[in-house]
Amino acid sequence: MIFTTPILAVLALVARVSAAPSPDALLARAPPVQIKTLSATQIAPFLNKANAPFSPNSSLSARDSEEASHRLTSRTIVGADNRVLWPSPDYPYSAVGKLTFSSGPACTGTMIGRRHVATAKQCLPSLSSPWSAHFAPSYYDGERLGGSNAIAVFIPNSLTPVGVCGYKEDWAIIILADPIGDTVTGWFGSKQINCTAQKNIANWFHMGWPADKGGNRPYRQEAITVTRCDECAPGGPLETDADVLAGQTGGPLWLWENGSRYLYGMASYGAVGRNYFASGPNFYGAIGAAYSAYP
Ligand SMILES: *[C@@H]1O[C@H](CO)[C@@H](O)[C@H](O)[C@H]1NC(C)=O
Ligand SMILES: *[C@@H]1O[C@H](CO)[C@@H](O)[C@H](O)[C@H]1NC(C)=O
Ligand SMILES: *[C@@H]1O[C@H](CO)[C@@H](O)[C@H](O)[C@H]1NC(C)=O
Repeated sequence: MIFTTPILAVLALVARVSAAPSPDALLARAPPVQIKTLSATQIAPFLNKANAPFSPNSSLSARDSEEASHRLTSRTIVGADNRVLWPSPDYPYSAVGKLTFSSGPACTGTMIGRRHVATAKQCLPSLSSPWSAHFAPSYYDGERLGGSNAIAVFIPNSLTPVGVCGYKEDWAIIILADPIGDTVTGWFGSKQINCTAQKNIANWFHMGWPADKGGNRPYRQEAITVTRCDECAPGGPLETDADVLAGQTGGPLWLWENGSRYLYGMASYGAVGRNYFASGPNFYGAIGAAYSAYP
């Protein structure tokens, strides 16, 4: 039997910290987000299509640090804190941001298109009353790159099994009012894991805004290992040894592949000695559906 806790549950006990300029001020002007549910039938035409990454500024990309670190073959035990303050606003870090909501705790999101942000479904406030959301890329004690408000969000409909298979479907794709990916942030590509070839290799990255470190600065972790990825086959959830706490929920699990970054999952649920990332074919199909509805 597996005992797990939603990462967000921890944050409910932690007071929100605000910094200037406050995302709350930007949120006050945000429109209510339209909830769009996607059925398996709506997702089906877009299955098995990978999405290419984009950097608006490839000459300034932080390529070298990841090229070096993706070759690491081991890391310390999950019990040690391997998160490192990561102030760089260069791509790809420009494409990861802090998500704030008009109610509830903050999360992390990743640009996966010109106006498309991947996060965890559990981050969203109640679906029965209106709420708003703001994405602040590369947030560091305040807005740095120019964020955008959410106008819509895609979530799975009738794809919410319980337990491990439920973590797999803990995804959401937020649509921003502005296509900041084109000029400001760039975006990650996205791919599904090949469990046979890609597990038990300490070459994955994660980034987020951990509440236990104040929630206002990005922390990155490298040399993460995916230890299981076929518990709810195919393709997820991704069980890892990442150090993930509240505030990092929804944050990316990514790979550096020959200079390109690919998102494979979003931080979902924590358990003793391991953390799960949402992933799998439905999420990747939903990206295509979101692109189609909001180019
Ligand atoms: C792109 O380059 C400009 C300088 O030419 C820099 O100011 C900006 O921060 C860069 N953006 C990213 C996302 O790296
Ligand atoms: C997954 O990786 C294995 C081992 O490298 C390979 O044989 C297989 O063809 C791959 N599967 C897919 C779907 O690419
Ligand atoms: C990187 O490029 C090399 C040579 O082009 C290729 O053999 C290899 O499969 C690529 N690796 C990835 C992860 O794409």
